[in-house]
Amino acid sequence: MSVLVTGGAGFIGSALVDLLVAGGHEVVVVDDLSTGSEANLAGAMATGLVRLEVCDIRRPEVSDLIAEASPEVVMHLAAQADVQASIDDPVNDAEVNVIGTIRVLDGARRAGTRKVVLATSGGTLYGAPDPSRLPYTEAEPHAPMSPYGLSKKAAGDYLAAYGPLHGIAHTTLALANVYGPRQDPHGEAGVVAIFARSLLEGEPCTVYGDGNQTRDFVHVADVARAFVAAMDAADGLLLNIGTGIETTVNDLYSAMASAADGAAEPQRAQERPGEVRRSALDASAAAAALGWEPSLGLADGVADTLAWFDRG
Ligand SMILES: NC(=O)c1ccc[n+]([C@@H]2O[C@H](COP(=O)([O-])OP(=O)(O)OC[C@H]3O[C@@H](n4cnc5c(N)ncnc54)[C@H](O)[C@@H]3O)[C@@H](O)[C@H]2O)c1
Repeated sequence: MSVLVTGGAGFIGSALVDLLVAGGHEVVVVDDLSTGSEANLAGAMATGLVRLEVCDIRRPEVSDLIAEASPEVVMHLAAQADVQASIDDPVNDAEVNVIGTIRVLDGARRAGTRKVVLATSGGTLYGAPDPSRLPYTEAEPHAPMSPYGLSKKAAGDYLAAYGPLHGIAHTTLALANVYGPRQDPHGEAGVVAIFARSLLEGEPCTVYGDGNQTRDFVHVADVARAFVAAMDAADGLLLNIGTGIETTVNDLYSAMASAADGAAEPQRAQERPGEVRRSALDASAAAAALGWEPSLGLADGVADTLAWFDRG
């Protein structure tokens, strides 16, 4: 099958490209390399099954490029994916995540693409609902509290309307906190990558607030499997992709520090404004529709991530 992956040079996108190539699929990656890199695709490109098109999805040419590539399936992961950056520059966030998405969908329509699978953010889509309903299902109201959450929701809304309008099957995957090899350890997000790099370099880790805030950490290899499963199933659905397990940042730190043979107590800093207190996603709908379940527990996933960062 021919598959086009936007954002395929990024953290999650490159793991997906690796899995597609392992399945014998031909892949076109569309990426502007703003946060992704060609190095992330080195192994996949060596197979000869992958072509990289460096292109910004905000540009009109991206639709022509997709129309010409004529993929059977489009996986849309390219995004401005930083919550703080979306607060600082909401216009740029919307240009990439909303206008860019419309251009990608337009290309898919012109290409006669059978299916589009979109990555959205399960951590921001539901806002901060009553924690007594944790882990959250897809039935929670969609009430994001940041420009990033809003632009990703808008992308999903566009797809849900655009697909039926133009006869394109579609699935939106609402991802929990994804972690694993190739995650950028330098940004604000990606606490596992940030801790991994600091622990391996012998630098202190910083925990914001009391550290009892929770997140649902799902390994990137499991997330990539969900995208592949969605190529042929779950048409018309929004599906949570997470473990349903809440892990506190304090517990994550302890697990990682002991796995890395390291470090005393982390540094403490003031809680960051706008941070959600608790988060976990119920993925039973994905189990039913995709036969998908997470396979890597946090202990194994963290060990795998540390080993990857250690290889440098
Ligand atoms: N990492 C997470 O925990 C998480 C959680 C929920 C949803 N997501 C979503 O998953 C997707 C992938 O995120 P990631 O964590 O791999 O981030 P990432 O930054 O590693 O990947 C994004 C990719 O998109 C590319 N890109 C950015 N702007 C572009 C543009 N204008 N034109 C073309 N390419 C562009 C980047 O170069 C990068 O390769 C995003 O849609 C993100 O919103 C991520």
